[in-house]
Amino acid sequence: MVQSLHGFLDENIQYLKDNGLYNEIDIVEGANGPEITINGEKYINLSSNNYLGLATDEDLKKVAKEAIDHYGVGAGAVRTINGTLDVHETLENTLAEFKGTEAAIAYQSGFNCNMAAISAVMNKNDAILSDELNHASIIDGCRLSKAKIIRVNHSDMDDLRQKAKEAVESGQYNKVMYITDGVFSMDGDVAKLPEIVEIAEEFDLITYVDDAHGSGVMGKGAGTVKHFGLQDKIDFQIGTLSKAIGVVGGYVAGTQELIDWLKVQSRPFLFSTSLTPESSAAITAAVRKLMDSTELHDKLWENANYLKDGLKELGYDIGESATPITPVIIGDEKQTQEFSKRLKDEGVYVKSIVFPTVPRGTGRVRNMPTAAHTKEMLDEALEAYKKVGKELGVI
Ligand SMILES: Cc1ncc(COP(=O)(O)O)c(C=O)c1O
Repeated sequence: MVQSLHGFLDENIQYLKDNGLYNEIDIVEGANGPEITINGEKYINLSSNNYLGLATDEDLKKVAKEAIDHYGVGAGAVRTINGTLDVHETLENTLAEFKGTEAAIAYQSGFNCNMAAISAVMNKNDAILSDELNHASIIDGCRLSKAKIIRVNHSDMDDLRQKAKEAVESGQYNKVMYITDGVFSMDGDVAKLPEIVEIAEEFDLITYVDDAHGSGVMGKGAGTVKHFGLQDKIDFQIGTLSKAIGVVGGYVAGTQELIDWLKVQSRPFLFSTSLTPESSAAITAAVRKLMDSTELHDKLWENANYLKDGLKELGYDIGESATPITPVIIGDEKQTQEFSKRLKDEGVYVKSIVFPTVPRGTGRVRNMPTAAHTKEMLDEALEAYKKVGKELGVI
């Protein structure tokens, strides 16, 4: 006898609930800003990826509204049929300028980029060296390509060199790629790009950096690759347009030849309707804003350093983050969920992140301070951390 769908779901949902792994999803009433409302209650929001506050930016809202008036609300087709509008072209040219590359291609999400780009280039005759903490969309993109996946210990350059050498010298693979997050989303540490480039040059590796959490944050806003001045050395610069950029979508930036290939080969580009015109227009305006001024970027870092210093002073373990991502590591999954729940009771919305998003036993609440928070909001959050941490014996 085979298991019924109900039997499968019931058993597994119960397992997740019993082990503190079931995520209850809250509904936010209104905008996702530095403060949010859930069930009529207001909270200081330390859970978004809206690093620069652009999701609610007045200039971007205006640009989006104007685009709706001009183009309507949808692009009408996939890009290759007749869904490529002039706003898409402008967006891609702007992204290339922002990233310092010859060209760029936009997708409907960052997740889609990784589905699209990896499998357009890598196949079953190839190997991909992948940092063990890479984002789920990279892992899935690698699987989709059918290439041999070789996990590399997190940011371990000796392990990368050894595995690159073995893969290349085995003679089994046509191409070998190394993929890494630019900024690791759960810990906030930065990929060692200069060493990665050195190893890649030694072994002829294709280099692929997903900078979802680096754009708008690192390199005065232009991202981790530009932070290290390696625009000419990284083959694929990937990113999302939904976090610091504040809208939705994703991009790949690289050589003209690479982008031409993705436009004829990558399946989410060929078979999924293009970004809406209002999103495209708003993204272009957001990127221009970042190119014109570092004001939001600077404010983000000021707030991030303020919160980090406050949490460290209280005695919390905030890991090794070198970016605004500020984990407070609790460990046990159930205690992490309880900690997050108690912070919510105190008016601070900071979600628990547990297995399978992070390894078992490393449960954490992940704080994302933004440029839109005020010092008063951050002080209020720190007061709540002090109270709850003492109460639960975490500090
Ligand atoms: C490294 C990385 N890549 C891709 C994504 C997915 O981006 P999007 O939300 O635009 O699909 C994320 C989002 O969390 C990410 O952290």
